[in-house]
Amino acid sequence: MRKMRRKGLASMAVQTVASTSNPTVDLGPAAALSCRECGHRVPLGPVFACEECFGPLEIAYDFSAYDTEELRRRIEAGPANIWRYAPLLPVPADVADKPNINPGWTKLVKADNLARELGVTGGLYVKDDSGNPTHSFKDRVVAQALEAARAFGFTTLSCSSTGNLAGAVGAAAARAGFRSCVFIPHDLEQGKVVMAAVYGGELVGIEGNYDDVNRFCSELIGDPAGEGWGFVNVNLRPYYAEGSKTLAYEICEQLGWRLPDQLVVPIASGSQLTKIDKGLQELIKLGLVEDRPYKIFGAQAEGCSPVSTAFKAGHDVVRPQKPNTIAKSLAIGNPADGPYVLDIARRTGGAVEDVTDEQVVDAIKLLARTEGIFAETAGGVTVGVTRKLIQDGVLDPTKTTVVLNTGDGLKTLDAVAGTGLTATIRPSLESFREAGLA
Ligand SMILES: Cc1ncc(COP(=O)(O)O)c(C=O)c1O
Ligand SMILES: [Zn+2]
Repeated sequence: MRKMRRKGLASMAVQTVASTSNPTVDLGPAAALSCRECGHRVPLGPVFACEECFGPLEIAYDFSAYDTEELRRRIEAGPANIWRYAPLLPVPADVADKPNINPGWTKLVKADNLARELGVTGGLYVKDDSGNPTHSFKDRVVAQALEAARAFGFTTLSCSSTGNLAGAVGAAAARAGFRSCVFIPHDLEQGKVVMAAVYGGELVGIEGNYDDVNRFCSELIGDPAGEGWGFVNVNLRPYYAEGSKTLAYEICEQLGWRLPDQLVVPIASGSQLTKIDKGLQELIKLGLVEDRPYKIFGAQAEGCSPVSTAFKAGHDVVRPQKPNTIAKSLAIGNPADGPYVLDIARRTGGAVEDVTDEQVVDAIKLLARTEGIFAETAGGVTVGVTRKLIQDGVLDPTKTTVVLNTGDGLKTLDAVAGTGLTATIRPSLESFREAGLA
């Protein structure tokens, strides 16, 4: 393990909770937790760091009984949400019958107008995850964490959040009958705050940035005050993270069970990008898609670009930054999965790039003007980075490319403040003509 990486993970040791051996837990094909660094396996439980080396734990599956064509038929006959992929997720077989908000199966939009503007000839698609129940991809990950919380007997759902996750946890908890208490930086966009508060759970603003919020939650887990709490992105993180695999599954199924050549994915903690790669690898191994090369590109805002800075410098460790960007949902200065993102970008022949806040706003408007999709700032980051990578000759415009929009522009209206009325006129044709609109 790399020196700096070990240092980062050692600081997580205090967050480790006792490994519960729980052979009766039914989380479908999930067989155990396995350390990403040393491979050490432990039974399924609310743990997230390896007791041997402090490496992150992730779900190990037993897919050995699956026949490819039978699995494909089963998926295709499944519901129009993430539960069509239940055989590949850490959830019980009857998950679709339980109360949850059923995210996923969002649109894969063939973005021909945007493609023309950007000079893409190989097919450009926007995976529009603003279409989820709380208008961001976070509903996918929370849905997995909810099933783990049920399995481990938690009664309160919690999280540290840059905004979208707080709303997703609030909604999922409301529907499933859990208490929720979520933590956010106190100065988030109004749209994010309202979306997180409206579901009736407790919403706590912390005086500090996301990294401060996350540190606070780690302390709370170790305290009696946090007992019985499932923190979706801390002690339930191995389960939570798997939800992002469904983006990979959906994209490939929607392309006719085909891998795209290139994907552009936003990075905050880096979890989503690493699990999209895991999902693509699983589809290849299961024979559901043909094995051929794909490239994954990561996207950050310049004002919070620890991973792209490391990528460009050729480093394999990520130096934390203090975030300062309008892309607040991506404002994680110390990304837990940063080193794994670097590995994946390099292994697949992709890259990690960043754009300025001005370019983020331009990209939000470009996507809205060309495709009628109103993205939040995170979507502005991916579209902006896509444009930059094409201009720099890094992303191949002749290849099939999927750009992720992970959230809804209605949550970050301030980013496009100043966009408004073309004219104000009297209710008369004369006034209409005077304004030069005829
Ligand atoms: C809209 C949006 N997109 C992308 C991300 C990135 O997620 P990850 O932390 O998995 O990198 C986030 C995280 O909060 C988000 O809110
Ligand atoms: Zn380990």
